[in-house]
Amino acid sequence: MQTGGLGYDVPAGRRDGRISLASEASTNLPPPTFTVDQLTQFFSNKGLTQDEMVTLSGAHTIGRSHCSSFSNRLYNFNGTSGQDPTLDPQYAASLKTQCPQGSTNTNLVVPMNPSSPSITDVGYYVDVLRNRGLFTSDQTLLTDTTTATQVRQNAGNPFLWKNKFASAMVKMGQLGVLIGEAGQIRANCRVINS
Ligand code: HEM
Repeated sequence: MQTGGLGYDVPAGRRDGRISLASEASTNLPPPTFTVDQLTQFFSNKGLTQDEMVTLSGAHTIGRSHCSSFSNRLYNFNGTSGQDPTLDPQYAASLKTQCPQGSTNTNLVVPMNPSSPSITDVGYYVDVLRNRGLFTSDQTLLTDTTTATQVRQNAGNPFLWKNKFASAMVKMGQLGVLIGEAGQIRANCRVINS
């Protein structure tokens, strides 16, 4: 089996909420249709820099996406009947077989970094450079000279990216922390205390 990944220390003792609402997640997450300027503004509103935005986007080296998050790039891009011209045609063809037009199966998912979907590597940046970023919000990073340079740097320097990613994740973990008596410090970070 192929191995790879990244480990870093996570500061403990953060006060966290007792309830989790899907509606709160959707207002705090940027949509996959965002452009680089919209993403930069969105992250800036959270106190994160553009470089941190590019660094954190590398999380899309693992995991899966539902077809609905990108099917607009395959079938009716910008109101046309065609596909997004910035998407690699071979990749688009493969996505179309995995996500047939008009499918009513809302459970269909595809890996975001097909070459190594469960390994935390720089595969995401390599994909983006090949016009194989799954979302508009991934591919848009090539449209700005600064973010395009960061994509190339991360693609070519896994050590640099992993260090920046660990720092940015720790910084993100310090956002919106509850204080005083609000919430609780979890004994197990995945679940509320019983
Ligand atoms: C830059 C802005 C971002 C946008 C627009 C975005 C958008 C998305 C979308 C649309 C999906 C697929 C959801 C679905 O259809 O099931 C997804 C999945 C995912 N995202 Fe992001 N994301 C962003 C940043 C991040 C960041 C900062 C992280 C973490 C550091 C992250 C981690 C993940 C992971 C791990 C998944 C896979 C979840 C799974 O496999 O179930 N994303 N993202």
